[in-house]
Amino acid sequence: MSDHRAAPAGVDPTTPNVARMYDFWLEGKDNFAADRAAAEKVNTLVPDAPLQARAARQFLGRAVRFLAEAGIRQFIDLGTGLPTQWNVHQVAQQVTPEARVVYVDYDPVVLVHARAMLQDTEQVEVVQADLRDPEKILQHPDTRALIDFDEPLGLILVGVLYFITDDEDPASILARFRDAMTPGSYVAISHTSTDNRPAGERAKEIYNDATAPHVPRTRAAIARLFDGFDLVEPGLVDVRVWGTDMVEQPKDTVVYAGVGRKPA
Ligand SMILES: C[S@@+](CC[C@H](N)C(=O)[O-])C[C@H]1O[C@@H](n2cnc3c(N)ncnc32)[C@H](O)[C@@H]1O
Repeated sequence: MSDHRAAPAGVDPTTPNVARMYDFWLEGKDNFAADRAAAEKVNTLVPDAPLQARAARQFLGRAVRFLAEAGIRQFIDLGTGLPTQWNVHQVAQQVTPEARVVYVDYDPVVLVHARAMLQDTEQVEVVQADLRDPEKILQHPDTRALIDFDEPLGLILVGVLYFITDDEDPASILARFRDAMTPGSYVAISHTSTDNRPAGERAKEIYNDATAPHVPRTRAAIARLFDGFDLVEPGLVDVRVWGTDMVEQPKDTVVYAGVGRKPA
């Protein structure tokens, strides 16, 4: 069944909003009662959902640092979310002060917050666009102003591809971005799965009335999203493990994460 949902049109406090639900899990202040109620319902099925959200956010920081240390100086962050601490430009610019970042989100609420936070920040642009329309993002004048597609790029998709249905074909969306990226570019992805937590399947229903559906995927399907990229060590692993000293893989993985490099 197709479940294409349009981008949120404005601020609607009565519809659970996936950016604000995430903000609630991250202990932010930019959420309404409907968002909190939906997030709490998810918590009844996946009690560690807030911990998993925080772990994904920490992976974002580790992955961006890894890319910056690998020499990446420009980033596109798809599905930026409501600003919290340690946003992509803050992490990247700690390593490389001249790092450039284009933030992309389709939610007007996110955009208002991002623009307010970033108004005095150089080398950063905020683009309102739907990642299901890669062409718009790639051709957008603000993207073109900051990103040089002849230079390696870090593409960040943390906590967002599970809002894209199979009908909307996340692999082909990624392929379009990959084709625009020069060899030596990287992609960082985190993605929910119900492989080890079948109860999470039922959480999908909670998103029926939300701004986006929730589409957890098998580990194998998530691995296919890296087609055309070589996974860097330690591969596609539990989000809590990637980039840490943890060697043992947890058996209850809810969120997988990986970083891939486009080969020459
Ligand atoms: C769970 S938050 C993740 C935020 C951030 N990447 C992080 O890891 O902290 C997902 C974000 O993706 C955005 N989003 C969902 N579907 C999108 C789409 N089709 N195009 C652009 N943004 C989208 C939502 O508005 C939300 O801000």
